[in-house]
Amino acid sequence: MTLGICVVGAGFWASQMHVPAFDRIPGARVVRIVAATQDSARALAERHSVPAWGTDLAEALSDPDVDVVDVVAPPDVHRDAVVAAAAAGKHAICIKPLGRTVAEGEEMLAAVAAAGTRLFYAENVPFIPAVQEAKRLVDAGHIGRVFRVKANEGIGHPHSAWFLDPARSGGGAILDMAVHSLEFCRYFAESPVTSVYADGGTFLWADETDAEDTAVLTVRFENGVLGQCEDSWSLVGAMDSRFEVFGTGGRILIDNLHRQPIQVISTAGSAAAPAGWSYPMPIAGMVADGHLDMLTHFVECITTGAVSRSEGQVGLDVLQVVSAATTSMTSGKREDV
Ligand SMILES: NC(=O)c1ccc[n+]([C@@H]2O[C@H](COP(=O)([O-])OP(=O)(O)OC[C@H]3O[C@@H](n4cnc5c(N)ncnc54)[C@H](O)[C@@H]3O)[C@@H](O)[C@H]2O)c1
Repeated sequence: MTLGICVVGAGFWASQMHVPAFDRIPGARVVRIVAATQDSARALAERHSVPAWGTDLAEALSDPDVDVVDVVAPPDVHRDAVVAAAAAGKHAICIKPLGRTVAEGEEMLAAVAAAGTRLFYAENVPFIPAVQEAKRLVDAGHIGRVFRVKANEGIGHPHSAWFLDPARSGGGAILDMAVHSLEFCRYFAESPVTSVYADGGTFLWADETDAEDTAVLTVRFENGVLGQCEDSWSLVGAMDSRFEVFGTGGRILIDNLHRQPIQVISTAGSAAAPAGWSYPMPIAGMVADGHLDMLTHFVECITTGAVSRSEGQVGLDVLQVVSAATTSMTSGKREDV
């Protein structure tokens, strides 16, 4: 069985990560692209031999070849696209953040429950190969009992204007970046978040947005684990992506941008890499950042009926923490989740 995928969005993430990843997943085929403009939808469709494209989601949802809608558009599109997909009997994958607010996330889950369809939360961090290896080590007892987790996700400036408009994006660095850090911390703490304290500000881009460009969160988990997230749009020069897990018998540091894991020699070369030594081997971002493994996992879950570790509820749980953190930014107090 091959699942027909309709990708909603033709921007950075759809074109660089999700559509190329689906090209490599045997059980799935992108059959439609829906974007804000006809030209962008067509350009992405033509690059990947996708047979249909357009700007009309309703038309795409009436296509019997579409089994799954993969929403990779800005957050103001997420709720309506997932609700419409559910109403049409299609499963949905929704990129982070699940919605702009907790209420939107709840509407999405309710629509899916009512329709009997499925919703997957496309948060790649737990699927990053290095993160998966770290989890295997932790589960094997390699660093003892985990008591602290830390994540650092930052960029210099968002790449599209809509990120800076909270009406479209839903928020600032907490909603856009800390969702990744929070999910890393949740993955290793393995316990619900009970409270969060957030501090931050708009240090670099106040002339462009009211949203915070920098935030530091401390998070308490029910089992006592302490989490710390540093997230921003204010890293001058280059992005950063680092994660740490502290245990009673050791610790793990993942520097997600330090990628020189393999060397390859080829006499002929291929489309994937030139002849000779490749050091480092050019590993596509969609592989190194876990998007291929994540989407492969979702396709398997739909095909087999297995429960995913990233069902829509995970996205809603993260939105609850984001909401409390955003409140904490103005109340100046630790907020319960
Ligand atoms: N690590 C990650 O998982 C990661 C990283 C970056 C962005 N994202 C998320 O991916 C989503 C898209 O971000 P991006 O970086 O691709 O943005 P982008 O600005 O590069 O592209 C946005 C795309 O959405 C399309 N779009 C806008 N309104 C639409 C509508 N009503 N219907 C259909 N398509 C519409 C536009 O045509 C455009 O192709 C956001 O939710 C963002 O938070 C995730």
